[in-house]
Amino acid sequence: MSNYSLSINGQSRSVDVAPDTPLLWVLRDNLDLPGTKFGCGAGHCGACTVHLNGVPTRSCMTPVSTVGRKQVTTIEGLDPKGEHPLQKAWLLLDVPQCGYCQAGQIMTAAALLKENPKPTDEEIDGAMAGNLCRCGTYLRIRAGIHQAAAQLAAGPKKGSK
Ligand code: FES
Ligand code: FES
Repeated sequence: MSNYSLSINGQSRSVDVAPDTPLLWVLRDNLDLPGTKFGCGAGHCGACTVHLNGVPTRSCMTPVSTVGRKQVTTIEGLDPKGEHPLQKAWLLLDVPQCGYCQAGQIMTAAALLKENPKPTDEEIDGAMAGNLCRCGTYLRIRAGIHQAAAQLAAGPKKGSK
């Protein structure tokens, strides 16, 4: 066991865990942040996606010992009120089916929109290709990203309501 001081959703959190413990388990089991999901545990599905310094990262493949002082953002910390334009768009368009993959989808989509605020269908499909959805919600995910992009382009006034 070792002690790690992590920056999680803007807060400093300390955990005592083995160095090879995946960040995913630290988030879920030690820090009570269950929004990040376990899908495959092997880097293939994207259900466990969080941001490390803004970069979408598979937390199932990230040993806690490698995180250091990087800023970790989970779905719980994406927006303080859960009102990120993507989260609003997901509700508006009823994007999720079972919902299991959707936190990872939103985290990957959020990083995409930061880098590319008006992505094309092809750019969305390229960025989201590593996030699998067993319910096949891909078309709604794409529509949700376009919807969020439009809200972002409209600015906070038009978008807030
Ligand atoms: S659970 Fe991490 S990629 Fe599938
Ligand atoms: S909504 Fe069910 S796995 Fe994606």
